[in-house]
Amino acid sequence: MQNELELFNKLASKLFEAEQTTPVAPPVPAAQLFDELDISLDEQPAADFEEILEKLVLNTPRTATRLFFNQLFGGRNPKATLGDLLAVLLNNSMYTYKVAGPQVGVEKEILRQICNLIGYPETSDGTFAPGGSMSNFMAMVMARDAHNKKIISHGVQQKLVLYTSAESHYSIPKNAALMGVGREHVRFIEVDRFGKMKPSALAEQIATDLADGFHPFFVNATAGTTVLGAFDAIEPLADICQKHNLWLHVDGAYCGSVIFSKTYKHLVSGLERADSFSVNAHKMMGTPLTCSIIVTKHKQFLHHSFSTNAAYLYQTDGDDYNLGKTSLQCGRRNDALKFWTLWKSVGTRGLETIVDQQFELATVARDYIENHPDYTLYSFNDSISVCFNYKGIPAQQLCTALYEQATLMVGYGTFNDDEFVRLVTINAGNNKADILNFFSVLEDFVSENEVMLASEVSSETS
Ligand SMILES: Cc1ncc(COP(=O)(O)O)c(C=O)c1O
Repeated sequence: MQNELELFNKLASKLFEAEQTTPVAPPVPAAQLFDELDISLDEQPAADFEEILEKLVLNTPRTATRLFFNQLFGGRNPKATLGDLLAVLLNNSMYTYKVAGPQVGVEKEILRQICNLIGYPETSDGTFAPGGSMSNFMAMVMARDAHNKKIISHGVQQKLVLYTSAESHYSIPKNAALMGVGREHVRFIEVDRFGKMKPSALAEQIATDLADGFHPFFVNATAGTTVLGAFDAIEPLADICQKHNLWLHVDGAYCGSVIFSKTYKHLVSGLERADSFSVNAHKMMGTPLTCSIIVTKHKQFLHHSFSTNAAYLYQTDGDDYNLGKTSLQCGRRNDALKFWTLWKSVGTRGLETIVDQQFELATVARDYIENHPDYTLYSFNDSISVCFNYKGIPAQQLCTALYEQATLMVGYGTFNDDEFVRLVTINAGNNKADILNFFSVLEDFVSENEVMLASEVSSETS
């Protein structure tokens, strides 16, 4: 293994150097992928293994650089990366105390601290899921099984319906299909002009469904919608859920980390009333993917929905330390350690600084846009998604051209009838200069490629 570690260090150094000199790796067109890179697997071992590996690493999109704004993650937090490297080296599976030992404590400590930050009672608990979509899935399954405790043995026999905003993540309808509720039984509730779910529209839809003989069981609120980064107002939704005895889940995959900030925690006020809450530390906290946490106020439902006995596996220690009793998977990688190494090294106050930095960078971006007349702003305050158009250039053309010419990685989104560039200030390793650099790179690109961009637009519209 020592040889591989030396190779790892060598490759890491080359990558760090490349990230500095060429923050955007020139994309390998998918059609040419196998011509340009030796990816094929053959009968015989590769003679030039190291060389091939280096080429693969250096041609992979660079998500840790100051020009990567394409997704709801970015940057590289060194302490969290160290934790994940150690998790790989240790290679535990988190299902039992017997094989994960103190790593179980690491996971439990994170879950307890998060429950405490929310203000959940001692009856709360949680687990790590393989991503925000699966955290939502677990919440939906718990809600379904809490609504009707016989479902886990008899299957779904009622006309169940669930509610989420029109701006929520696509995992909600996908999960509805996976869990036997059905995509057609997802009610997409209208949002206001800021992209937040309208509580009055929710209440009306529930009344209609009840009158039509449906069984409402679940409401999903979003803390940071995927495109606009909007926060649904939790209190009025909690009132409605309380009235109708519905499970309220808050999907904080994107921006649930505001719980760490005294300044921004108000964006999820009322969170303690939600039955469950999920947050992706691999988004705002900047840990390596994936690091997705789901907590619920009702530990008993976590057990009810996910606990299954397996004599071959659970042979020592109690359920409290055999975390496989409350997880989605059986074998499960240690996603907690990377968040723990980060948290332990900077403290909760350090996590707060990470959150606050992202909102400050978003303010820098919005201020820039509002002070430059060639820009139109489409997003709102209290969000780390900054959505805009520049000189009326269609966002799709602009983002694609920036990517194809290895200039900048940024994506586009839509809200109502508008399509726009979505700049996400989620990399807390960035500073104000990096955000201003984003705009100057974009503007230089447009001025150098104005003719090309204009011709692409006219050929699309003709
Ligand atoms: C609001 C929201 N929920 C859920 C998810 C899904 O998270 P994951 O990609 O970890 O499955 C996302 C991803 O962007 C999201 O924005």
